[in-house]
Amino acid sequence: MKRRHFIKNVSLTGVGLVAGNAMLNCAENNSEKNENETIMTKTNSKFPIAICTWGFANANAKAGEALSKGVKALDAAIIGVSVEEENLKNTTVGKGGTPDREGNVTLDACVMDSNGDCGAVVCVENITNVALLAKQVMTETPHVILASKGAEEFAYRQGFEKDNLLTEDSKKVWEEWLKSPEYKPLINIENHDTIGMLCLDNDGDIAGACTTSGLSYKMKGRVGDSPIIGSGLFVDNEIGGAVATGMGEEVIKTVGSFLIVELMRSGMSPQKACEEAVHRITNKNDKYKGFQIAYIAINKAGDTGSYSIHKGFTYMRYQNGKNENIHSSYFNKI
Ligand code: GLY
Repeated sequence: MKRRHFIKNVSLTGVGLVAGNAMLNCAENNSEKNENETIMTKTNSKFPIAICTWGFANANAKAGEALSKGVKALDAAIIGVSVEEENLKNTTVGKGGTPDREGNVTLDACVMDSNGDCGAVVCVENITNVALLAKQVMTETPHVILASKGAEEFAYRQGFEKDNLLTEDSKKVWEEWLKSPEYKPLINIENHDTIGMLCLDNDGDIAGACTTSGLSYKMKGRVGDSPIIGSGLFVDNEIGGAVATGMGEEVIKTVGSFLIVELMRSGMSPQKACEEAVHRITNKNDKYKGFQIAYIAINKAGDTGSYSIHKGFTYMRYQNGKNENIHSSYFNKI
């Protein structure tokens, strides 16, 4: 699928939803409205909401604006994260991402919908919009995950265009790295990394997307948490959703995003649930001193939270037309 066709499709979806909102407003103005209608209108005044990891303001604004026009949660999340997939200056997501140690840019992504369906692609080369590709796996195949060449070939059959993901700038930096190649993942103190996004739409439905080029100069074939449902992303539309960023191996070991949603199911706020998921990692041993992990979460009521191991993590929240960058609280105060 070409991106312009996708945008056209989601816009058409939006028309129906805008009509749906107009009907909600009519209910509000109707003097004979019953108690249930009143509660629904009040609840929905908080919506829509889009949140995403790090300071990806443009991506989050795009998702928030799409939601405000009535686009459903999953399509809005994909519209949002695709901004970073196409941003050549972003060296951790999509085109322009840092390659593996052999100079190949390989991308991972997943999506999860409000009805519990999900799709993922891992280790994909030559395709920029891998979150959209993950959605196509979800909707156009009987499978959840497609890997590597299989995912790439599927993409071409779906109409995606082949693209060289290694930019001249990324190539130069990789060539410098090759002069004294050290494979030592460091604490991520940059202001960007994986983009994970959660959207709560006008109907109160939650969905999310997560997309990354993974660890810089990773081993060939390495896959992190971002495309793993339950680790990099999890959504249960009855409860809420969570996404992760940072050292993927450690997120996978604790199935972080699923854990957060389950903690919210047991009554924790998104904030407390993110804190507990980080503590599951930091309680194990001192290794957390050498890497960063951060979570963001949203519940069905639209409350959001975030927590990271180290200082420096921020996330974006779009609500009521306002797109804010929020500094996360963190564990390691040293
Ligand atoms: N969280 C991104 C990765 O570890 O690949």
